[in-house]
Amino acid sequence: MKIAIIGTGYVGLPTGVGLAELGHQVVCIDRELSKIEKLRQGVVTLYEDGLAELLTKNMASGNISFTTSMADGVKDAAVVIIAVGTPPHPVTHEADLRYIYAAACELAPLLDHYTVVANKSTVPVGTGDMVENLIVKTNHQAQCDVISLPEFLREGFAVHDFFCPDRIIIGANSERASKVIMDMYRPLLERNTDNAGKCATTVLLVSRRSSETIKYAANSFLATKIHFINEMADFCEKTGADIGEVAQGMGLDRRIGDSFLTPGPGFGGSCFPKDTMALDFMARQNNVELKLVRATIEGNRSRMEKMADTIISSLEHIEHPVVGVLGLAFKNGTDDCRVSPAMQIIEYLLCKTPKVRLKVFDPKAMDNARLIFQEKGVTDRISFCESMSDVAYDADVLAVLTEWNEFRQFDLNAAYKNMRHHQIIDCRNLFNPHQARAAGFSYKGIGVH
Ligand code: UGA
Repeated sequence: MKIAIIGTGYVGLPTGVGLAELGHQVVCIDRELSKIEKLRQGVVTLYEDGLAELLTKNMASGNISFTTSMADGVKDAAVVIIAVGTPPHPVTHEADLRYIYAAACELAPLLDHYTVVANKSTVPVGTGDMVENLIVKTNHQAQCDVISLPEFLREGFAVHDFFCPDRIIIGANSERASKVIMDMYRPLLERNTDNAGKCATTVLLVSRRSSETIKYAANSFLATKIHFINEMADFCEKTGADIGEVAQGMGLDRRIGDSFLTPGPGFGGSCFPKDTMALDFMARQNNVELKLVRATIEGNRSRMEKMADTIISSLEHIEHPVVGVLGLAFKNGTDDCRVSPAMQIIEYLLCKTPKVRLKVFDPKAMDNARLIFQEKGVTDRISFCESMSDVAYDADVLAVLTEWNEFRQFDLNAAYKNMRHHQIIDCRNLFNPHQARAAGFSYKGIGVH
Protein backbone atom coordinates (compact mmCIF):
# COMPACT_ATOMS: atom_id res chain seq x y z
CA MET A 1 0.00 0.00 0.00
CA LYS A 2 1.27 3.48 -0.77
CA ILE A 3 1.17 5.80 2.25
CA ALA A 4 2.12 9.47 2.47
CA ILE A 5 2.97 11.08 5.80
CA ILE A 6 2.90 14.84 6.25
CA GLY A 7 5.35 15.86 9.01
CA THR A 8 8.60 14.15 10.02
CA GLY A 9 8.65 14.94 13.75
CA TYR A 10 8.50 12.66 16.80
CA VAL A 11 5.23 11.09 15.51
CA GLY A 12 5.58 11.26 11.72
CA LEU A 13 9.07 9.84 11.35
CA PRO A 14 8.75 6.74 13.61
CA THR A 15 5.30 6.06 12.08
CA GLY A 16 6.71 6.32 8.55
CA VAL A 17 9.67 4.08 9.30
CA GLY A 18 7.41 1.58 11.12
CA LEU A 19 4.93 1.40 8.22
CA ALA A 20 7.81 0.93 5.77
CA GLU A 21 9.11 -1.94 7.92
CA LEU A 22 5.63 -3.51 7.68
CA GLY A 23 6.14 -3.62 3.90
CA HIS A 24 4.30 -0.49 2.75
CA GLN A 25 5.62 2.09 0.29
CA VAL A 26 6.00 5.20 2.42
CA VAL A 27 6.77 8.77 1.38
CA CYS A 28 7.47 11.25 4.18
CA ILE A 29 6.77 14.88 3.37
CA ASP A 30 8.17 17.87 5.21
CA ARG A 31 8.42 21.53 4.26
CA GLU A 32 11.86 21.87 5.85
CA LEU A 33 14.37 21.14 3.10
CA SER A 34 17.30 20.75 5.53
CA LYS A 35 15.43 17.98 7.38
CA ILE A 36 14.52 16.16 4.18
CA GLU A 37 18.11 16.39 2.91
CA LYS A 38 19.43 14.82 6.11
CA LEU A 39 16.80 12.07 6.04
CA ARG A 40 17.64 11.32 2.40
CA GLN A 41 21.21 10.70 3.57
CA GLY A 42 19.88 8.32 6.22
CA VAL A 43 20.55 10.74 9.08
CA VAL A 44 17.76 10.71 11.69
CA THR A 45 16.78 14.19 12.79
CA LEU A 46 15.77 13.19 16.34
CA TYR A 47 16.93 10.60 18.86
CA GLU A 48 14.78 7.47 19.11
CA ASP A 49 16.20 4.14 20.15
CA GLY A 50 16.41 1.77 17.14
CA LEU A 51 15.07 4.28 14.61
CA ALA A 52 18.33 4.93 12.73
CA GLU A 53 18.86 1.21 12.03
CA LEU A 54 15.31 0.73 10.75
CA LEU A 55 15.57 3.83 8.60
CA THR A 56 18.78 2.61 6.96
CA LYS A 57 17.26 -0.83 6.35
CA ASN A 58 14.08 0.52 4.77
CA MET A 59 15.88 3.09 2.66
CA ALA A 60 18.04 0.30 1.28
CA SER A 61 14.96 -1.77 0.42
CA GLY A 62 13.35 1.27 -1.20
CA ASN A 63 10.30 1.17 1.10
CA ILE A 64 10.71 4.74 2.34
CA SER A 65 11.57 8.01 0.64
CA PHE A 66 11.48 11.70 1.52
CA THR A 67 10.29 14.80 -0.28
CA THR A 68 9.38 18.44 0.27
CA SER A 69 6.78 18.24 -2.49
CA MET A 70 3.23 17.50 -1.34
CA ALA A 71 2.20 16.76 -4.95
CA ASP A 72 4.95 14.15 -5.42
CA GLY A 73 4.40 12.67 -1.96
CA VAL A 74 0.64 12.07 -2.09
CA LYS A 75 0.51 10.89 -5.73
CA ASP A 76 -1.33 7.53 -5.82
CA ALA A 77 -1.36 7.27 -2.00
CA ALA A 78 -4.18 5.17 -0.51
CA VAL A 79 -3.68 6.84 2.87
CA VAL A 80 -2.35 10.30 3.70
CA ILE A 81 -1.41 10.63 7.36
CA ILE A 82 -1.28 14.11 8.86
CA ALA A 83 1.32 14.23 11.65
CA VAL A 84 2.11 17.90 12.08
CA GLY A 85 2.49 19.85 15.33
CA THR A 86 -0.44 21.38 17.22
CA PRO A 87 1.43 23.67 19.65
CA PRO A 88 -0.48 25.44 22.42
CA HIS A 89 -1.56 29.05 21.95
CA PRO A 90 0.69 31.10 24.28
CA VAL A 91 -2.24 32.81 26.03
CA THR A 92 -5.36 30.64 25.76
CA HIS A 93 -3.48 27.29 25.63
CA GLU A 94 -5.93 25.99 23.00
CA ALA A 95 -4.33 23.79 20.33
CA ASP A 96 -3.05 25.87 17.42
CA LEU A 97 -4.36 24.20 14.26
CA ARG A 98 -2.64 26.34 11.66
CA TYR A 99 -0.32 23.51 10.49
CA ILE A 100 -3.24 21.07 10.21
CA TYR A 101 -5.26 23.50 8.10
CA ALA A 102 -2.23 24.42 5.98
CA ALA A 103 -1.64 20.71 5.28
CA ALA A 104 -5.33 20.14 4.43
CA CYS A 105 -5.44 23.18 2.09
CA GLU A 106 -2.34 22.06 0.23
CA LEU A 107 -3.57 18.48 0.04
CA ALA A 108 -7.17 19.15 -1.08
CA PRO A 109 -6.56 20.04 -4.76
CA LEU A 110 -4.26 17.01 -5.12
CA LEU A 111 -6.90 14.44 -4.13
CA ASP A 112 -7.71 12.94 -7.55
CA HIS A 113 -8.60 9.38 -6.40
CA TYR A 114 -10.24 7.86 -3.30
CA THR A 115 -7.92 8.58 -0.37
CA VAL A 116 -8.18 8.14 3.38
CA VAL A 117 -6.90 11.27 5.13
CA ALA A 118 -5.93 10.08 8.59
CA ASN A 119 -5.21 12.62 11.26
CA LYS A 120 -2.55 11.50 13.77
CA SER A 121 -1.89 14.92 15.27
CA THR A 122 -3.60 15.55 18.62
CA VAL A 123 -6.49 17.83 17.69
CA PRO A 124 -9.55 19.28 19.43
CA VAL A 125 -12.83 17.43 19.11
CA GLY A 126 -14.51 18.41 15.86
CA THR A 127 -11.29 19.10 13.93
CA GLY A 128 -11.99 16.12 11.64
CA ASP A 129 -15.28 17.78 10.62
CA MET A 130 -13.50 21.05 9.90
CA VAL A 131 -10.75 19.37 7.85
CA GLU A 132 -13.40 17.51 5.86
CA ASN A 133 -15.33 20.73 5.16
CA LEU A 134 -12.16 22.51 4.15
CA ILE A 135 -11.21 19.76 1.68
CA VAL A 136 -14.70 19.58 0.16
CA LYS A 137 -14.88 23.38 -0.14
CA THR A 138 -11.48 23.54 -1.85
CA ASN A 139 -12.02 20.57 -4.15
CA HIS A 140 -15.65 19.59 -4.92
CA GLN A 141 -14.43 16.52 -6.81
CA ALA A 142 -12.33 15.16 -3.92
CA GLN A 143 -13.17 11.57 -3.06
CA CYS A 144 -11.90 11.07 0.43
CA ASP A 145 -12.75 10.16 4.00
CA VAL A 146 -11.19 12.11 6.84
CA ILE A 147 -10.61 9.93 9.88
CA SER A 148 -9.03 10.27 13.32
CA LEU A 149 -6.16 7.87 13.99
CA PRO A 150 -4.69 9.02 17.32
CA GLU A 151 -1.12 8.19 18.20
CA PHE A 152 -0.11 6.70 21.54
CA LEU A 153 3.68 6.44 20.99
CA ARG A 154 5.90 7.57 23.85
CA GLU A 155 8.96 9.56 22.89
CA GLY A 156 12.10 7.52 23.44
CA PHE A 157 10.15 4.27 23.03
CA ALA A 158 8.46 5.10 19.74
CA VAL A 159 9.84 2.13 17.79
CA HIS A 160 8.77 -0.32 20.47
CA ASP A 161 5.37 1.33 20.85
CA PHE A 162 4.77 1.38 17.10
CA PHE A 163 5.20 -2.38 16.80
CA CYS A 164 3.57 -3.37 20.09
CA PRO A 165 0.63 -1.03 20.68
CA ASP A 166 -2.00 -1.99 23.28
CA ARG A 167 -4.65 -0.63 20.96
CA ILE A 168 -5.29 1.01 17.63
CA ILE A 169 -8.16 3.46 17.70
CA ILE A 170 -9.83 4.13 14.36
CA GLY A 171 -12.22 7.07 14.47
CA ALA A 172 -14.07 6.86 11.19
CA ASN A 173 -17.58 7.68 10.12
CA SER A 174 -17.11 5.50 7.01
CA GLU A 175 -16.80 1.74 6.72
CA ARG A 176 -14.75 2.04 3.53
CA ALA A 177 -12.12 4.12 5.33
CA SER A 178 -11.98 1.73 8.32
CA LYS A 179 -11.32 -1.17 5.93
CA VAL A 180 -8.40 0.66 4.29
CA ILE A 181 -6.86 1.39 7.72
CA MET A 182 -7.38 -2.22 8.81
CA ASP A 183 -5.48 -3.29 5.66
CA MET A 184 -2.70 -0.86 6.53
CA TYR A 185 -2.31 -2.35 10.02
CA ARG A 186 -2.93 -6.00 9.00
CA PRO A 187 0.81 -6.90 8.86
CA LEU A 188 1.26 -5.43 12.35
CA LEU A 189 -1.73 -7.33 13.76
CA GLU A 190 -0.40 -10.55 12.21
CA ARG A 191 3.00 -10.00 13.87
CA ASN A 192 1.26 -9.54 17.22
CA THR A 193 -0.92 -12.64 16.98
CA ASP A 194 0.20 -15.79 18.81
CA ASN A 195 -0.20 -19.40 17.68
CA ALA A 196 -3.56 -19.63 19.45
CA GLY A 197 -4.78 -16.71 17.29
CA LYS A 198 -4.81 -14.18 20.13
CA CYS A 199 -3.69 -10.70 19.12
CA ALA A 200 -1.92 -8.54 21.71
CA THR A 201 -3.26 -5.41 20.02
CA THR A 202 -6.95 -4.50 20.19
CA VAL A 203 -8.46 -2.54 17.33
CA LEU A 204 -11.34 -0.31 18.37
CA LEU A 205 -13.60 1.29 15.78
CA VAL A 206 -15.33 4.40 17.10
CA SER A 207 -16.80 7.63 15.79
CA ARG A 208 -14.40 10.37 14.75
CA ARG A 209 -15.33 12.62 17.67
CA SER A 210 -14.95 9.79 20.21
CA SER A 211 -11.54 9.01 18.79
CA GLU A 212 -10.42 12.64 19.07
CA THR A 213 -11.65 12.65 22.67
CA ILE A 214 -9.94 9.34 23.58
CA LYS A 215 -6.54 10.87 22.89
CA TYR A 216 -7.10 13.82 25.25
CA ALA A 217 -8.81 11.68 27.88
CA ALA A 218 -5.98 9.10 27.88
CA ASN A 219 -3.20 11.69 28.16
CA SER A 220 -5.04 13.68 30.83
CA PHE A 221 -5.76 10.54 32.84
CA LEU A 222 -2.08 9.52 32.79
CA ALA A 223 -1.05 13.06 33.73
CA THR A 224 -3.54 12.97 36.62
CA LYS A 225 -2.13 9.62 37.75
CA ILE A 226 1.36 11.17 37.92
CA HIS A 227 0.02 14.20 39.75
CA PHE A 228 -1.70 11.89 42.24
CA ILE A 229 1.47 9.92 42.98
CA ASN A 230 3.41 13.18 43.35
CA GLU A 231 0.90 14.37 45.95
CA MET A 232 1.13 11.00 47.71
CA ALA A 233 4.93 11.42 47.76
CA ASP A 234 4.46 14.73 49.61
CA PHE A 235 2.15 12.95 52.02
CA CYS A 236 4.71 10.16 52.58
CA GLU A 237 7.42 12.72 53.31
CA LYS A 238 5.38 14.07 56.20
CA THR A 239 4.13 10.75 57.56
CA GLY A 240 7.25 8.59 57.43
CA ALA A 241 5.92 6.24 54.73
CA ASP A 242 7.97 5.36 51.65
CA ILE A 243 6.45 6.30 48.26
CA GLY A 244 8.24 3.43 46.48
CA GLU A 245 6.59 0.90 48.76
CA VAL A 246 3.24 2.69 48.56
CA ALA A 247 3.32 2.81 44.74
CA GLN A 248 4.27 -0.86 44.59
CA GLY A 249 1.45 -1.80 46.92
CA MET A 250 -1.06 0.24 44.92
CA GLY A 251 0.18 -1.00 41.54
CA LEU A 252 -0.31 -4.65 42.44
CA ASP A 253 -4.04 -3.99 42.26
CA ARG A 254 -4.71 -4.72 38.58
CA ARG A 255 -7.49 -2.13 38.55
CA ILE A 256 -4.86 0.50 39.32
CA GLY A 257 -1.87 -0.93 37.43
CA ASP A 258 1.78 -0.27 38.25
CA SER A 259 2.71 2.15 35.47
CA PHE A 260 2.82 5.94 35.77
CA LEU A 261 3.20 5.72 39.53
CA THR A 262 6.76 7.02 39.67
CA PRO A 263 6.98 10.34 41.53
CA GLY A 264 9.18 13.10 40.17
CA PRO A 265 9.53 16.82 39.54
CA GLY A 266 6.24 16.92 37.59
CA PHE A 267 5.30 15.71 34.13
CA GLY A 268 6.71 17.50 31.10
CA GLY A 269 7.20 17.08 27.37
CA SER A 270 5.28 18.30 24.40
CA CYS A 271 2.16 16.23 25.17
CA PHE A 272 0.84 16.07 28.76
CA PRO A 273 1.19 19.77 29.67
CA LYS A 274 -0.21 20.85 26.29
CA ASP A 275 -3.02 18.29 26.12
CA THR A 276 -4.31 18.81 29.68
CA MET A 277 -4.49 22.56 29.03
CA ALA A 278 -6.17 22.07 25.65
CA LEU A 279 -8.75 19.72 27.21
CA ASP A 280 -9.44 22.26 29.94
CA PHE A 281 -9.86 24.97 27.27
CA MET A 282 -12.29 22.80 25.26
CA ALA A 283 -14.27 21.97 28.41
CA ARG A 284 -14.65 25.63 29.32
CA GLN A 285 -15.75 26.41 25.76
CA ASN A 286 -18.46 23.79 26.20
CA ASN A 287 -19.44 25.00 29.69
CA VAL A 288 -18.12 21.87 31.37
CA GLU A 289 -15.92 22.07 34.44
CA LEU A 290 -13.08 19.53 34.57
CA LYS A 291 -11.96 20.22 38.14
CA LEU A 292 -9.67 17.22 38.32
CA VAL A 293 -7.82 18.19 35.15
CA ARG A 294 -7.47 21.78 36.38
CA ALA A 295 -6.06 20.59 39.70
CA THR A 296 -3.56 18.45 37.79
CA ILE A 297 -2.44 21.37 35.63
CA GLU A 298 -2.04 23.72 38.58
CA GLY A 299 -0.45 21.14 40.87
CA ASN A 300 2.08 20.23 38.20
CA ARG A 301 3.00 23.85 37.59
CA SER A 302 3.70 24.56 41.25
CA ARG A 303 5.54 21.26 41.67
CA MET A 304 8.48 22.37 39.54
CA GLU A 305 8.82 25.56 41.58
CA LYS A 306 8.68 23.50 44.75
CA MET A 307 11.57 21.34 43.48
CA ALA A 308 13.58 24.41 42.53
CA ASP A 309 12.90 25.97 45.96
CA THR A 310 14.26 22.83 47.62
CA ILE A 311 17.48 23.22 45.63
CA ILE A 312 17.62 26.94 46.43
CA SER A 313 17.27 26.34 50.18
CA SER A 314 20.17 23.87 50.02
CA LEU A 315 22.36 26.73 48.74
CA GLU A 316 21.79 29.02 51.73
CA HIS A 317 25.02 30.35 53.27
CA ILE A 318 27.09 29.36 50.20
CA GLU A 319 28.48 32.51 48.67
CA HIS A 320 29.11 31.41 45.08
CA PRO A 321 27.04 28.24 44.79
CA VAL A 322 27.55 25.64 42.09
CA VAL A 323 24.83 23.10 41.31
CA GLY A 324 25.72 19.95 39.40
CA VAL A 325 22.71 18.91 37.30
CA LEU A 326 22.12 15.37 36.07
CA GLY A 327 19.53 15.36 33.29
CA LEU A 328 18.02 17.97 30.97
CA ALA A 329 15.59 16.02 28.77
CA PHE A 330 11.94 15.90 29.86
CA LYS A 331 12.36 12.17 30.55
CA ASN A 332 14.78 9.34 29.82
CA GLY A 333 15.26 7.87 26.34
CA THR A 334 14.88 11.15 24.45
CA ASP A 335 16.86 14.24 23.43
CA ASP A 336 13.72 16.36 23.71
CA CYS A 337 13.94 19.31 26.11
CA ARG A 338 10.62 20.92 25.23
CA VAL A 339 8.66 21.72 28.40
CA SER A 340 11.20 19.72 30.35
CA PRO A 341 10.80 19.92 34.15
CA ALA A 342 14.62 19.94 34.31
CA MET A 343 14.87 22.99 32.05
CA GLN A 344 12.07 24.78 33.92
CA ILE A 345 13.71 24.09 37.28
CA ILE A 346 17.03 25.39 35.94
CA GLU A 347 15.41 28.53 34.55
CA TYR A 348 13.70 29.23 37.90
CA LEU A 349 16.95 28.57 39.75
CA LEU A 350 18.91 30.99 37.55
CA CYS A 351 16.24 33.63 37.94
CA LYS A 352 15.93 33.36 41.75
CA THR A 353 19.61 32.94 42.62
CA PRO A 354 21.69 35.46 40.65
CA LYS A 355 25.02 34.08 41.88
CA VAL A 356 24.39 30.41 41.15
CA ARG A 357 26.43 28.60 38.48
CA LEU A 358 25.38 25.30 36.94
CA LYS A 359 27.30 22.32 35.63
CA VAL A 360 24.97 20.22 33.48
CA PHE A 361 25.03 16.84 31.78
CA ASP A 362 22.50 14.77 29.84
CA PRO A 363 23.34 11.62 27.84
CA LYS A 364 21.35 12.72 24.74
CA ALA A 365 19.92 16.21 25.15
CA MET A 366 23.03 18.43 25.38
CA ASP A 367 22.65 19.96 21.88
CA ASN A 368 18.95 20.73 22.24
CA ALA A 369 19.45 22.15 25.74
CA ARG A 370 22.36 24.32 24.61
CA LEU A 371 20.17 25.86 21.90
CA ILE A 372 17.43 26.67 24.42
CA PHE A 373 19.92 28.17 26.92
CA GLN A 374 21.50 30.20 24.09
CA GLU A 375 18.09 31.57 23.10
CA LYS A 376 17.50 32.61 26.71
CA GLY A 377 20.97 34.16 26.94
CA VAL A 378 22.02 32.27 30.08
CA THR A 379 24.94 30.19 28.78
CA ASP A 380 27.51 32.32 30.67
CA ARG A 381 26.26 30.76 33.93
CA ILE A 382 26.21 27.18 32.63
CA SER A 383 29.07 24.75 32.02
CA PHE A 384 28.23 21.89 29.65
CA CYS A 385 30.00 18.77 30.97
CA GLU A 386 31.36 15.85 28.94
CA SER A 387 30.28 13.14 31.35
CA MET A 388 28.11 12.61 34.41
CA SER A 389 31.11 12.46 36.72
CA ASP A 390 32.29 15.90 35.53
CA VAL A 391 29.27 17.65 37.07
CA ALA A 392 30.52 16.81 40.55
CA TYR A 393 33.81 18.79 40.36
CA ASP A 394 33.59 21.77 42.73
CA ALA A 395 29.80 21.44 42.98
CA ASP A 396 27.98 22.14 46.25
CA VAL A 397 24.78 20.32 45.43
CA LEU A 398 23.96 17.55 43.00
CA ALA A 399 20.42 17.70 41.53
CA VAL A 400 19.03 14.69 39.66
CA LEU A 401 16.34 15.97 37.29
CA THR A 402 15.84 13.30 34.57
CA GLU A 403 15.32 9.57 35.15
CA TRP A 404 18.17 8.28 32.92
CA ASN A 405 19.05 4.75 33.97
CA GLU A 406 22.80 5.34 33.61
CA PHE A 407 22.69 7.89 36.43
CA ARG A 408 22.12 4.94 38.77
CA GLN A 409 25.76 3.98 38.06
CA PHE A 410 27.00 7.38 39.28
CA ASP A 411 30.08 6.88 41.45
CA LEU A 412 29.01 8.54 44.72
CA ASN A 413 32.31 7.90 46.48
CA ALA A 414 34.33 9.58 43.71
CA ALA A 415 31.82 12.45 43.58
CA TYR A 416 32.15 12.99 47.33
CA LYS A 417 35.90 13.60 46.94
CA ASN A 418 35.39 16.10 44.10
CA MET A 419 32.55 18.17 45.55
CA ARG A 420 32.89 21.23 47.82
CA HIS A 421 29.72 20.53 49.80
CA HIS A 422 27.98 17.20 49.91
CA GLN A 423 24.27 17.43 49.20
CA ILE A 424 22.09 15.44 46.79
CA ILE A 425 18.59 16.45 45.78
CA ASP A 426 17.27 13.49 43.88
CA CYS A 427 14.04 14.55 42.14
CA ARG A 428 13.77 11.12 40.45
CA ASN A 429 14.64 8.80 43.35
CA LEU A 430 17.44 7.20 41.32
CA PHE A 431 19.93 6.80 44.16
CA ASN A 432 19.61 4.57 47.18
CA PRO A 433 19.25 6.94 50.18
CA HIS A 434 21.24 4.62 52.47
CA GLN A 435 24.15 4.32 50.01
CA ALA A 436 24.18 8.08 49.41
CA ARG A 437 24.29 8.75 53.16
CA ALA A 438 26.92 6.04 53.67
CA ALA A 439 29.07 7.84 51.06
CA GLY A 440 28.82 10.97 53.27
CA PHE A 441 26.06 12.92 51.52
CA SER A 442 23.10 14.72 52.93
CA TYR A 443 20.39 13.14 50.74
CA LYS A 444 16.88 14.31 49.86
CA GLY A 445 14.65 12.25 47.56
CA ILE A 446 10.92 12.44 46.80
CA GLY A 447 8.62 10.80 49.36
CA VAL A 448 11.47 8.72 50.80
CA HIS A 449 13.47 9.01 54.02
C1 UGA B 1 2.83 10.67 26.26
C2 UGA B 1 1.97 9.39 26.36
O1 UGA B 1 2.53 8.51 27.33
C3 UGA B 1 1.90 8.69 24.99
O2 UGA B 1 1.01 7.58 25.08
C4 UGA B 1 1.36 9.68 23.95
O3 UGA B 1 1.32 9.10 22.65
C5 UGA B 1 2.26 10.90 23.92
O4 UGA B 1 2.30 11.51 25.24
C6 UGA B 1 1.68 11.88 22.92
O5 UGA B 1 0.59 12.39 23.17
O6 UGA B 1 2.25 12.02 21.82
P1 UGA B 1 5.46 11.19 26.20
O7 UGA B 1 5.08 12.62 26.29
O8 UGA B 1 6.45 10.75 25.20
O9 UGA B 1 4.15 10.26 25.96
O10 UGA B 1 6.05 10.80 27.62
P2 UGA B 1 5.63 9.91 28.89
O11 UGA B 1 6.46 8.71 28.92
O12 UGA B 1 4.17 9.71 28.95
O13 UGA B 1 6.12 10.88 30.07
C7 UGA B 1 5.56 12.19 30.23
C8 UGA B 1 6.12 12.87 31.45
O14 UGA B 1 5.65 12.24 32.64
C9 UGA B 1 7.64 12.86 31.58
O15 UGA B 1 8.09 14.12 32.03
C10 UGA B 1 7.94 11.77 32.59
O16 UGA B 1 9.15 11.94 33.28
C11 UGA B 1 6.74 11.92 33.51
N1 UGA B 1 6.40 10.68 34.25
C12 UGA B 1 5.98 9.57 33.59
C13 UGA B 1 6.48 10.69 35.64
O17 UGA B 1 6.87 11.70 36.27
N2 UGA B 1 6.13 9.55 36.31
C14 UGA B 1 5.70 8.43 35.68
O18 UGA B 1 5.39 7.43 36.38
C15 UGA B 1 5.63 8.44 34.29
